[in-house]
Amino acid sequence: METAVFCKGITKVFGEGATRVDALKGIDLEMRPGELLMIVGPSGSGKTTLISILAGILDQTEGECCVLDCNLKEMRNAELTRFRGKHIGFVFQAFNLIPMLTATENVAIPLLLAGMKDEEALQMAREILVRYGLEDKLDVLPGSLSGGQQQRVAIARSCIHGPNLIVCDEPTSSLDHETGVKVMELFRHEVLEKNRALIIVTHDARIFSYADRIINLDDGKIVP
Ligand SMILES: Nc1ncnc2c1ncn2[C@@H]1O[C@H](COP(=O)(O)OP(=O)(O)O)[C@@H](O)[C@H]1O
Ligand SMILES: [Mg+2]
Repeated sequence: METAVFCKGITKVFGEGATRVDALKGIDLEMRPGELLMIVGPSGSGKTTLISILAGILDQTEGECCVLDCNLKEMRNAELTRFRGKHIGFVFQAFNLIPMLTATENVAIPLLLAGMKDEEALQMAREILVRYGLEDKLDVLPGSLSGGQQQRVAIARSCIHGPNLIVCDEPTSSLDHETGVKVMELFRHEVLEKNRALIIVTHDARIFSYADRIINLDDGKIVP
């Protein structure tokens, strides 16, 4: 695999007529495995739309999008779901943790979906949560965790199954400085060590130094 992400001329149009929104207006982007890319830009500039397309959650309107050497638009639904489950990790802005599952169970989900035995999956989930500083929260439900703790659980869940591309929407926004740095150190390690590609949408200037490259999005375009 030479490029983790290859996009040419990506556009995204929502709605039509009077309610038409041109969220992306021609995005070209290439990323290599092992690269940590940050995307910054004002609210409404298309950041979430772009990473959702790269993660195979949303279809582009026009343009070519290859992720890990696969053309997402050419895949059937079931095939895309399988591909996403195996190769892509996503940290949503709202975390999307399952409220009736413990922190450990939430983190184990990608492994269980991949067919790992319960006890093995739960053990791996515990280990990653300990590394993320949550050793005393393993059996706690998301509702009893702080925002920063929920964020760390969501990040652990995004990378536990060894995806080659991880995309994160504002992953450190509710972490204090020390925890944010700790999480970025772990993330950086995951990426470099395992030759994964990581894309982080962020406003958090405190973590810019962890990026290999930062791109600016404005009004649906990459700007200098
Ligand atoms: N599902 C949708 N339907 C209609 N418009 C949308 C939808 N999602 C995003 N948009 C619009 O697309 C533009 C880009 O949105 P978004 O990608 O969420 O920006 P950002 O993440 O940079 O804040 C905004 O004008 C937003 O209102
Ligand atoms: Mg957004």
